[in-house]
Amino acid sequence: MARVVVTREVPRGPLSLLTDAGHEVHVREGAAPPYRSELLELVADAEGLLCTLTERIDADVLDAAPRLRAIGLFSVGSDSVDVDGATARGIAVGNTPDVLTDATADLALALILATARRLPEAAANVTGGAWRTWEPLGLLGLELRGARLCVVGAGRIGRATGERAAAFGMDVDYVSRGDDLLAALRRADVVSLHAPLTEQTRHLIDAAALAAMKRGSILVNTARGGLVDQVALAAALASGQLAAAGLDVTDPEPLPADDPLLAAPNVLVLPHIGSATTVARERMAERACRNLLAALAGEPMPWPVNAVGR
Ligand code: GLV
Repeated sequence: MARVVVTREVPRGPLSLLTDAGHEVHVREGAAPPYRSELLELVADAEGLLCTLTERIDADVLDAAPRLRAIGLFSVGSDSVDVDGATARGIAVGNTPDVLTDATADLALALILATARRLPEAAANVTGGAWRTWEPLGLLGLELRGARLCVVGAGRIGRATGERAAAFGMDVDYVSRGDDLLAALRRADVVSLHAPLTEQTRHLIDAAALAAMKRGSILVNTARGGLVDQVALAAALASGQLAAAGLDVTDPEPLPADDPLLAAPNVLVLPHIGSATTVARERMAERACRNLLAALAGEPMPWPVNAVGR
């Protein structure tokens, strides 16, 4: 029997996988993430940890958790965890792939549609009273059929987004590591980001990448805020180099209230809801629990991020 600490409220049902196996599960109450000091205390006696992307599991947290054997991430991205540090300490780390692919790709499409058809401006015109009458030349946007989408990061979610875009008649290019990113950006009407955040991909979309994009094109990000140099993005939007941006993720989250991206009329910022469907979140909880269950039994995790226990 092991003590498993859950840092946030998650769907409760799958936790019974752990309790039925005899593990003691401690769920920290409250919708907000723990403060750093609380997190350091929470992990002190944990052998298993179920945590979300809002908890930074760095060397200090790992050092504060001498009994920790397994981390079950409630996310597919693993950039919130010092995976090398966990591996060095013999701690298995697992994530929740596949089960949030459709939900996140749906949201990427929603952002592509919303920005292509200028929904933030259109809705603001109605609620702000600026809209007076139907206009032949009002709020003209981008027609998706025949437009070119560049999917940056050709993994599961990138591919699922591309499939959806193709159903709307878009031509889709996929860019993977090692491909010529700037060449692909130059051709695209819409760019959608699906790469993991690593040291190599931080600010992948920097001033040079934004300058390479077509004038009047659109950027959508449902991956990680750190992929984009947001200062350069705000400038590209202000100058008209980019027509619009749809951001489900930012750096930091949330953005400070005075961030220029929040004031820009052609930007839609969402509160990181890519995987926020009832089914996806249930299944994420189940995968996180199954990862912990396996590792605590001395078996390989079904969805491992590192090689510990394999
Ligand atoms: C969400 O952002 C995730 O990585 O699951």
